[in-house]
Amino acid sequence: MANTESWKSSFFSRKSFLGTARFKLPIVFGAALAGSLGLSAGIIYPNPFFSIDSSGILSTSGKIDTTNPFFRPLGTNGRTCNSCHLAASAWSITPADVHAKFDATKGMDPIFRTNDGSNCPSADVSTPRARSSAYSMLLNKAVLRIALPMPENAEFQIIDIDDPYNCPETTTSHPAFYRRPLPSTNLSFLSAVMWDGRETVFGAIAGKSLNLEQSLENQALDAITGHAQGNVPSTEQLAQIAEFEKAISTAQVFDVRAGRLDAGGAKGGPVALSQQNTYIGINDALGGDPTGAAFNPNVFTLYESWMHSHSLYRQSVARGEALFNNLPIPITGVAGLNDALKQPVIMGTCTTCHDSPNAGNHSFSVPLGIGTTAYPAEPALDLAGLPVYTVQCLATGETTQVTDIGRAMISGKCADIGKVKGPVLRGLAARAPYSITAEPRRWLMRLSFITSASILRSLRSKRRTWRRSFGRSELPMSPKKGDMGHSKFVGILSASLRSQRCQCDEGC
Ligand code: HEC
Ligand code: HEC
Repeated sequence: MANTESWKSSFFSRKSFLGTARFKLPIVFGAALAGSLGLSAGIIYPNPFFSIDSSGILSTSGKIDTTNPFFRPLGTNGRTCNSCHLAASAWSITPADVHAKFDATKGMDPIFRTNDGSNCPSADVSTPRARSSAYSMLLNKAVLRIALPMPENAEFQIIDIDDPYNCPETTTSHPAFYRRPLPSTNLSFLSAVMWDGRETVFGAIAGKSLNLEQSLENQALDAITGHAQGNVPSTEQLAQIAEFEKAISTAQVFDVRAGRLDAGGAKGGPVALSQQNTYIGINDALGGDPTGAAFNPNVFTLYESWMHSHSLYRQSVARGEALFNNLPIPITGVAGLNDALKQPVIMGTCTTCHDSPNAGNHSFSVPLGIGTTAYPAEPALDLAGLPVYTVQCLATGETTQVTDIGRAMISGKCADIGKVKGPVLRGLAARAPYSITAEPRRWLMRLSFITSASILRSLRSKRRTWRRSFGRSELPMSPKKGDMGHSKFVGILSASLRSQRCQCDEGC
């Protein structure tokens, strides 16, 4: 177990670098700060390991051993896993990171490669100006171009592509989607690997168990031969990469306003996360927990003890967590849920889908269509720059428009069009933008509810009814009198999500 005491030993005032001094920030002697350009290969970084952004601090307990092949170029184009999975960005990558790389190298850093970094593989990248336009999606949204072959025996065909880049390589037999890198951390919670689950290797009972090692080794193999354009690596290298990734836990450890997230009885931060019990199907919302345990909607229990904190801000974080667990949401039109249960309306909560305790992903591999890939989009979603595919089911002739075909590109099934997995919800503050389509931070700040288009619609109509009877600024489901203002209410919700960031090498 990591020694978290060491970072209590030295404090410095936030004033010294941000201008306010409400809380003191912990820092460890000799700790390296992770930056946008990544960690230097070949160095063992000290622990805990911190990085700072405008909302808080990221920290590591254990060791980040950059001699691992994760940090080495294993392909032909100079890329490493660390090109797109940065410790300081909760092991994903943000537009700010990509801009920093571009500025430092005039767009020549290995992340800027045309195989999947540019909007289009045949884009002109001959000058800095050309590169800045060729890599605009990577720069603006930190998304990669994921091109996949149409599955054999697909139950559907693509009958139209509205591609903003008129990319000759984007075809009906080889469509391409622009996707956010999922964090290469907290992997022990996963029930599916990749947005569309394409690297998931099931264990003995398909869908009910996961062979995580095999899934991660396959994933690393495909990343090396794909993203890094390399030859097949040795089995030993693949095993080392999987072993390295599996050991990392990431969660926020310090919030600018709430202070230390493991203080006052709270259980934020990576150490508690690394000890969190998990298994496939844990706390399944549909009653499928293999131990027979009933679903408990109180999925996040990190900040319960702050309900009665002397700090009003900490109290509001605790109320936000309670809302995440218990705010009733009528769930409608979610493919994979309403249709599977044959219930047009399911009265649920955020945790109906984000059911894995203190992690927030789906504990079973259940791809869902919540509307983030649908076209036309709900007004609050920003689909700028994404192609639109018109997909037709062969059996029925029915057409659907999506920006990402999702799980159906793997399963070939019409029922899976636009479905993706629900990711782990820790370390969020460090890695905006969110969702597969890269929604800006305000998406979370303003209305986390729009994770489901149907949820958004039902909330809107609820709000209209409420407004008619009670006036504009209040929502009916506010948990406490003081939280009635809508923006404050949503702010609180995102505060509780935001308060989960920092990372730890799990030897801890
Ligand atoms: C060029 C950028 C890039 C590079 C380089 C890269 N990745 Fe990724 N990674 C991504 C993207 C994008 C996704 C999500 C793709 C998808 O789901 O279709 C992803 C997904 C993952 C996931 C899945 C996490 C989850 O929740 O399912 C893991 C694990 C991962 N990468 C590890 C690695 C490893 C190991 C390497 C090096 C061998 C690597 N990545 C190299 C961009 C990259
Ligand atoms: C009907 C199931 C369902 C419900 C209910 C639901 N979500 Fe989600 N959520 C998902 C799925 C599936 C995704 C992945 C889709 C995507 O990102 O495009 C997701 C993605 C997210 C993400 C983005 C994570 C990332 O890594 O980018 C956040 C944040 C989130 N949900 C928060 C919430 C909050 C807050 C609520 C309650 C107000 C909620 N969700 C309710 C299914 C659900």
